[in-house]
Amino acid sequence: MSLPRYYFPGHRKIANLDFAKLGFDYTACPYRFEAVFQHGIWRVRGLIEDPNMTIPEGSQCLHYGQELFEGMKVHRGPDDRIYAFRPLENARRLNHGARYLCGPEVPEALFVRGIEEVAAANHPYIPPHGSGAALYVRPFYLGIGDNVGVKPARSYVFRIFVTPVGPYFKGGFGPDQGKAFMVSRLDRAAPRGSGHVKAGGNYACSFTPGQEAKSRGFAEALYLDPREHKYIEEIGAANFLGFRDGKLITPESTSVLPSVTRNSLLEIASTTFGWITEERKITLDELGEMDSAACCGTAAVVSWIARIADGDREWTFEFDERWQQLYDAILGIQTGTGDDPFGWRHEIPLK
Ligand SMILES: Cc1ncc(COP(=O)(O)O)c(C=O)c1O
Repeated sequence: MSLPRYYFPGHRKIANLDFAKLGFDYTACPYRFEAVFQHGIWRVRGLIEDPNMTIPEGSQCLHYGQELFEGMKVHRGPDDRIYAFRPLENARRLNHGARYLCGPEVPEALFVRGIEEVAAANHPYIPPHGSGAALYVRPFYLGIGDNVGVKPARSYVFRIFVTPVGPYFKGGFGPDQGKAFMVSRLDRAAPRGSGHVKAGGNYACSFTPGQEAKSRGFAEALYLDPREHKYIEEIGAANFLGFRDGKLITPESTSVLPSVTRNSLLEIASTTFGWITEERKITLDELGEMDSAACCGTAAVVSWIARIADGDREWTFEFDERWQQLYDAILGIQTGTGDDPFGWRHEIPLK
């Protein structure tokens, strides 16, 4: 689906879409933001309308996976003010990836400016407050050029598109919305590989385990550590959380993606609620000792886990009010309905 272009500066109208019915799908919005790195400098192209891209056929992103992406959400507050959430954290994670893939960093100020411009330009598509939907923001980074050898590119494109989305897991969050996951015997990352980087190739390699889980009726695959297959890593595109002995625990691993949502929830848990948090190795067998479990991420927010299956073994969990507390606290910050003691809300200036 492609949406009409009607952006006028100062225009405050909301697009005529059934936002409450949106799934986690792509809908082309009128504007995207782009910058190009050539001859050692970033040149800002700014807002552009064409959703298609033309790049050289030899580009490193096409053949060798020299590609990175980010995922964030922008929300409309009750007073129609527009908020991003901790955009600098995503800029830093992208640049961690850029260093790992031997490409130039995107200046943080350029990254944040891009988010602000593209969100403001497409603001009719920022879902109404309370609709349960959000504007998903997808910054990405491509190594391009006329090339055939296995080596990093000299030129890069940094682009950001946006699209309004509904819940990532069908049904969203609620006491009756526990999700089921299947332990995969395949790995998404190598022990000393690129799991900590948001590189496209990691995700292509998660399609088979993800599809296997979905074809058996599960929401996603749960990955174990790639060295011993003993410890919990993460779940699809979300980090793992559990409550055990009154503590909020999360896996410590160099092969999981450091989640902005998880880091924020851990801080809310300890600072706002005074709970003890622990980042440590968590064995799969420990699921039997846990009071409750959940996964979290930009797309998933907080999703509580009702069931985890591993062959003929199975662990089941009840809804835990503490997931609701965490969900309400982070969403309150993101949507402008709650206090923001950490200063994480980033208001998007509207011209
Ligand atoms: C593999 C993986 N783990 C975890 C997450 C959650 O990270 P965040 O909370 O920054 O969205 C994501 C999504 O970005 C992901 O792709």
